[in-house]
This record gives sequence, C-alpha cells and structure tokens, in this order.
Amino acid sequence: MRNEVPAVSETRQWNRLMDLAEIGAIPNNGVNRAALTAGDRAARRLVIGWAAEIGATVSVDEAANLWLRIEGTDPDAAPVLTGSHMDSQPKGGRFDGAYGVIAGLEAITALHDAGIVTRRPIEVVAWTNEEGGRFAPGCTGSMSWAGVHESHTWDEVRDHNGVFYGAALAEQLSAEADIPRRPLGSSPSAYVEAHIEQGPLLEAEGLDIGVVTGIQGSRWFTVTVDGESAHAGTAPLKFRRDAVQDAVRAISALSAAMEDPDDILRFTVGRMSVLPNASNSVADQVTFSIDLRHPDGPTLEARGDSILGILKHAVKDCRVTLKETFHAMPVEFSPMVIDAVEQAAATVGAKAIRMASGAFHDAQFASRVTPSGMIFVPSHRGISHNPAEYTSPAQLAAGTRVLARTLLDLANR
Ligand code: HGY
Ligand code: MN
Ligand code: MN
Repeated sequence: MRNEVPAVSETRQWNRLMDLAEIGAIPNNGVNRAALTAGDRAARRLVIGWAAEIGATVSVDEAANLWLRIEGTDPDAAPVLTGSHMDSQPKGGRFDGAYGVIAGLEAITALHDAGIVTRRPIEVVAWTNEEGGRFAPGCTGSMSWAGVHESHTWDEVRDHNGVFYGAALAEQLSAEADIPRRPLGSSPSAYVEAHIEQGPLLEAEGLDIGVVTGIQGSRWFTVTVDGESAHAGTAPLKFRRDAVQDAVRAISALSAAMEDPDDILRFTVGRMSVLPNASNSVADQVTFSIDLRHPDGPTLEARGDSILGILKHAVKDCRVTLKETFHAMPVEFSPMVIDAVEQAAATVGAKAIRMASGAFHDAQFASRVTPSGMIFVPSHRGISHNPAEYTSPAQLAAGTRVLARTLLDLANR
C-alpha cells in the first residue's frame, strides 16, 4: 500500500495509542477511562502535548469538547473537522474512540511534517462522553455542539457514586482553566471520523477499510420498578411487592417481544441496580437500562414506543416507570464525504467496502451540522467494548493514510 501522505507514521501512531492506553489500563490490555475523570484529563494532557509539537492551537468549549487546530492558507475558510472520543467503556479496549483522535492528530502531524498546508484549516476534536458509561446517555459533547440539547441538559444525571454530571463537567473545565475557551458550536465544511469497526465484516472479508454510509438508530431507556422492602424470612410471598421478581418478569416479556428472526433488532439490558441490595431483604427498587437499536427509523420508533405497554402488562405487584434518555434516529452520511473517503482509499491502494455502522458515534450528531462520514478499520474477530479489542498497527496506519488523504482532498476544495 502506498504511503500517499509521506509522513503518516505507523510507529508513532501505535506508540501514542499505547501511551494513551496506559491511562486507565486494566488487565488483559483493557482500558477503563470514564468521561470527566482525572484519567480523561490525563489523556487530554497527553494529546495536548503532542499537538503542541506541531504548533496546533488548543481550545475547550463549555461542553468540555477538546479542539486542536492547524491553520490553512485561507484563515476565513470553514475548517474540515475530524476526531472521535477518548472516554472508554468500564471494560473497554485500547482503540474504541482513542483511535479516531490519534488518527486525526497523526494525519495533521503527517501533513505538517510533509510541509503541506491546505487551503482550509483542519481541526481535530475529542468529544466529551461519547460512551455514556459513567453518565448516560452517550454523545453529550457532540449533542451539545450540534445544538441537539444545550450543554447543561444532563447536569442532574448521577454516576454510580452519586456524582452529578454538572459537577463533573465543572470540575473538568476548572482543571483545564489554563486552556483557551472557544464558543460551543461551529460550522465546519465537513466531518470525517476514523473508528474501529467493532464488528467482524472487514476482517472476515480480508478488507482494509470500511467506507461508512450511515449509522443505525439507537434509543436508551431507564426502567424503574418500585416495590416494598420486607423481611426475607418472615414476609409471606403472597404479600410481597418484590421489585426483583417484577423486574425479571419485565425483562423476560421485553426479550420475548423484541425477538427478531432476522437478528437485526438489537435489544440489550446491560445495567441493573437493586435496592436495598441485601440478601435477606426483599428488594423495593430495581432500575435497569434498555439499549434498543435498528437501522429503520419507523421500526425503531414503533418498537421503542411499545415498551411501556409491555412493562405495564408484565409487572404484577410493583409500580413501573419508564424514562427515555437517548433518542438517536438512523442517519445516512453525505454522498460527497462517502465518495471522498472511497476515492482516498483507492488512491492509497486500500481494499475498501461501503458499509453501515451498528455502533453509534459522534458522527451521528455531527451529520446534523455538516456533511459527515466515517472510515472504519478492522476489529479482530469483531470484538469491542472488551479488553480483547484489537486492530494491528498496519491496519490502523492504513486507516490513517485514508483519513489523511481525505482531509487533504476536502481541505483543498
Ligand atoms: O454504544 C455504542 O454504539 C458506542 O460504541 N458508544
Ligand atoms: Mn466509539
Ligand atoms: Mn464504544
């Protein structure tokens, strides 16, 4: 494969990703680096240091999105934007999100090292809280930037330790008070995000690049089952209002209702809490999450809207409430950006295929503001949100060469 942008360095990129993966490292090559934590801030400082080496300007907006910028020959031209996120799942991998930020940095570093100055400025963004692992929902940084919700919408959301999102955001901004501020919201000429596929297709087909055509829709809900605590030894079952038993009925009914013989609908209960969480007290409250996804908007709307009725019918003794926390309808990316990515892949000799994304990304919200697209690189055995997540240095570098070519093309239009 030709290294069309002379200075894209496989080694430098890999070493930076491994340095980043040290922050929040957990056993078996995993990463636990939640948004708005000291680990998140340490990762940002690392990236800021590398950006300074090429004279990129650094700024932060009120949603704590981190911006790196290199100037073009035309300072008035709208920039081309790339980037991703650096927060991880609690048992995440080294590449989900981090790759897109480091690839963006590598691309602008390669252009800098090659002495190439494009007409448009190029910006690299690290979005706040894409994963939603600590504070649900995800994509709060890109949704704030895109004007989907204002940046304090989630201030009252609490993490497992009872910390408020608003307090964690304020702590992040004050810890980075030395970094210049920039207004929330901007109008780039295009957005391209490099990301691992998080699925098995590219590896199975022996391909280098996914030219992403769009992202399926996602809806998140929180279900709360309220019963009555009682003594496990003395309370007769017929008098109990057992939140665990009713939560089990609810999840079983939802699983049955969400069955899809074509295995396209994605229904996941990934988080659950039980109170008072004592083995000899009947639970008086169970809270659980629902992550529902489908590529067809009307199907996702209908399936999601059916949840409350299913819950009301399934729950026997307790009160059940439902709150939607995330509503991201399917998006189709810009044909202009898709073509530019496909052309860049051909230029560097990468084997590419057009494909949709099953995972959501900040690009889902960037595409509301500007023509957007994504570049996928293979995930070994399709594994992600798991320490075993792996993409090889060469595969990552191939994605970055395609990204650099795409940015070079779009930033000279
Ligand atoms: O959940 C997702 O789809 C993304 O990986 N955060
Ligand atoms: Mn991601
Ligand atoms: Mn993820």
